[in-house]
Amino acid sequence: MTEREILLHIEHLKKEYSGVTPLRDVNLDVRKGDVISVIGPSGTGKSTLLRMINRMEEVTSGKIFYRNEEITSPHCEIHHLRQKIGMIFQSFNLFSHLTVVENIMAAPVDLLGMSKQAAYDRAKKLLDRVSLESKAFSYPDELSGGQKQRIAIVRALAMEPEILLLDEPTSALDPAMVGEVEAVIRRVAEAGVTMMLVTHDMSLARRVSNRVLYMDEGGVYEDAPPEVIFENPAREKTRRFVRQLKSLELFIDSRNFDFIGCNTSMEEFGMKNDVPKSIILSVMLVFEELCTQILLPRLSPPAIRWVVEYSKEKETATITVDYNGKPLDITKFGSEAGNVSGLTREEELSVRLIRGRARDMQWSFTEGEEQGNHICMTMG
Ligand SMILES: Nc1ncnc2c1ncn2[C@@H]1O[C@H](COP(=O)(O)OP(=O)(O)OP(=O)(O)O)[C@@H](O)[C@H]1O
Ligand SMILES: [Mg+2]
Repeated sequence: MTEREILLHIEHLKKEYSGVTPLRDVNLDVRKGDVISVIGPSGTGKSTLLRMINRMEEVTSGKIFYRNEEITSPHCEIHHLRQKIGMIFQSFNLFSHLTVVENIMAAPVDLLGMSKQAAYDRAKKLLDRVSLESKAFSYPDELSGGQKQRIAIVRALAMEPEILLLDEPTSALDPAMVGEVEAVIRRVAEAGVTMMLVTHDMSLARRVSNRVLYMDEGGVYEDAPPEVIFENPAREKTRRFVRQLKSLELFIDSRNFDFIGCNTSMEEFGMKNDVPKSIILSVMLVFEELCTQILLPRLSPPAIRWVVEYSKEKETATITVDYNGKPLDITKFGSEAGNVSGLTREEELSVRLIRGRARDMQWSFTEGEEQGNHICMTMG
């Protein structure tokens, strides 16, 4: 197989603001057909990198080439460049005083000098591709967030760009709307548009891209296919970042803790990590039975750390619970050994429910630690 051609070549790119230098030395080739997800901690220069490729931001030093033309040069035609390299933002940036179809027609007419009829025909065709032809004469305010973002993508496509840069295209959307935007991103990729997308949504990155760039230490810290980055990254900081994303930590230090908020966090964690619904429901049930029914009433004040980690390979969630107080081995409750610690009927029922969901439940106690009780269990 011949290597796909290089569309973007970035060498020794540096960006310095007064006080911070988010990008010290970025080196990167983007090939035709690549769909690259750019991930990494906040402040590592992901948005800055996209903005420099689109010339919305000047580089401090280093060079960017698009098809062998140096776009960081002062002679670069910025309008022409932006026609070839489109950009999509988290906040859609549609013109609110124009209808959907007018939004899509604006740049082809104003910048490419296309006739209104041709621009209109193209806009209608594109709307049809994202199943929004019925919204052609609506105003942006009449659309849902997901629809606005699909329109923003269509508007960029009206210029027939070769590369599309997307900065967190789904982060302003309700989880239910992410799917429709993802479907459009996928379709655009299939149509052969090369993409670079900054995202904090790892399941999106995993599903749509062929390459994932992990940004850290002022540059591209690791560049690999999604399976490698998410399952088996080569370098330490990538490993730490990915591990953190795959775990959820809650800390409960009051009887009036935010129970609904905790449940929402668990649901969101499940969605972000593609955890099967049945596993997340089990995790939430065990949380309710163990934390609110058994531990909270017994601990005053409570100090419970609840950590959930999900392994995609094994399709299991591991829950680790650390809590304060005297040694309290709930794994013995309800077992053949009988009622060892004077459980109430309700508590016994809770233990039974937990046992029904969790396997390999283990308890240990470390003398002298604030949260000396440790329970570890697996679901799924
Ligand atoms: N116009 C600016 N002036 C000064 N500093 C800036 C400017 N734009 C960005 N920065 C700083 O540069 C660093 C990188 O910012 P950038 O927005 O690229 O990060 P990011 O990786 O996109 O982060 P996030 O994941 O939070 O969006 C940050 O420390 C930010 O404060
Ligand atoms: Mg950003």
